[in-house]
Amino acid sequence: MSSKTYNPCDLVIYGALGDLSRRKLLTCLYRLELSNFIEPETCIIGIDRMELDSPGFIEIAHKSLQEFLNTELDEAVWKRFSSRLSYLQIDLTQMEQYAQLQDFVDHSKRVMVNYFAVSPVLFKNICQGLDQSGVLSNTSRMVMEKPIGHDLKSSREINDEVAKVFQEDQVFRIDHYLGKETVLNLLALRFANSIFTTNWDHNTIDHVQITVAEEVGIEGRWEYFDHTGQLRDMLQNHLLQILTFVAMEPPATLEAQSIHSEKIKVLKALRPITAKNVKEKTVRGQYTAGYMKGKPVPGYLEEEGANTKSITESFVALRVDIDNWRWAGVPFYLRTGKRMSGKRTEIVINFKRLPHNIFRDSYRELPPNKLIIHLQPNEGVEIQVLNKIPGIDENIKLQKTKLDLSFSETFKNSRIFGGYEKLVLEAMRGNPTLFLSREEIEQAWTWIDSIQNAWTHLLESPISYPAGTWGPIASDSLLAQDGRAWEG
Ligand code: BG6
Repeated sequence: MSSKTYNPCDLVIYGALGDLSRRKLLTCLYRLELSNFIEPETCIIGIDRMELDSPGFIEIAHKSLQEFLNTELDEAVWKRFSSRLSYLQIDLTQMEQYAQLQDFVDHSKRVMVNYFAVSPVLFKNICQGLDQSGVLSNTSRMVMEKPIGHDLKSSREINDEVAKVFQEDQVFRIDHYLGKETVLNLLALRFANSIFTTNWDHNTIDHVQITVAEEVGIEGRWEYFDHTGQLRDMLQNHLLQILTFVAMEPPATLEAQSIHSEKIKVLKALRPITAKNVKEKTVRGQYTAGYMKGKPVPGYLEEEGANTKSITESFVALRVDIDNWRWAGVPFYLRTGKRMSGKRTEIVINFKRLPHNIFRDSYRELPPNKLIIHLQPNEGVEIQVLNKIPGIDENIKLQKTKLDLSFSETFKNSRIFGGYEKLVLEAMRGNPTLFLSREEIEQAWTWIDSIQNAWTHLLESPISYPAGTWGPIASDSLLAQDGRAWEG
């Protein structure tokens, strides 16, 4: 094993033939196998409604890996991996069928980890089926991921159903951004370096920007996406999670409870955006036809299956204020959109200007320092500082330069794992730190619902932006009205 061992698992995947399982879970499990992270005794049981036997499932898994892995399969690793796989046909709505699991799961040898890779409408059925069949033990866990609801009410309904069968400490709610190396590195950067622990508040920071820009459009998911929109699809979870990591107070330990409670405090301190201030604080956009890397692409309303009257947003920009001591007067600007000019996820910490400029004879204003954390692509951390240009001129000449830490350059011998690999492994290890608590999710929905309700009240169409740009001009104005501009 490549790291500390953990108890072997019976990893049961519900919806094993679905997109999430074939595209993400099987590939990430194979990669974990490749790096020797899967406990030797662990079994993987695929469940779906299609009539199939284990060899048939193994064949589908093989094809999925060939299709979705970017590398050739290693024959020895595949042999090891495929020997763990078995298949069980269950119609998840038929309670009596769950008893078959008894023959596959062995609590005396392995921990049962139930991965719900199906639509949340089936969660209630699965919970009831598992409960009635008596196949669970108090060590069993369940893993689920977004969408955990469409709003606070539906999210509570899902959590209530799950809570009837699983205790909160048995529930692992995934946000795949929390498995990304650079998001985790925020903990190290902030709490292992004294220069950042002491320069991380309203005294030194002017404002923070968080950008999650995607090149992809709707990718055949029109129905799901149109019902959801970018605010619920990306901001409620991924961007708010990044924000909590940037803004939280130092947790007492790395234990899940310490981290969760600090994140909840941040979410509770978010100033509500309501019908009164929604126009000043938010921008909604929807892409029209444009060009991506020189190729024409259709607009949102021309995508396959589109309702041509939709007013769902594919872009959101917000000004967020955090009403607590540390962040008083420091706005956080968040933006995320589909079909943007490039794939870029980054956090920019903009420091305050110096109170006094001794170089004023040559430079009326000195540009403030920035800390830029690149989450993807090209993970890294960059600090922008001013340096003297070497020379013996009478006046000192300054130049903006970068202290640049590229992860791939600096950690040449370390592999950067994807978010799923980290999180699936943590679920098997039983470490809840990087998963979301029920309270966190519900607090995030409370804040998001207020924005969504304010938009519904306004009944305004989103502002158009051509595909392949950085969103509507109004997104620039959101910062310009405060005398600021987006990075890059
Ligand atoms: C998912 C959203 O959660 O995250 C997708 O549902 C989005 O719409 C995806 O494209 C982005 O993830 P990543 O890891 O590619 O930034």
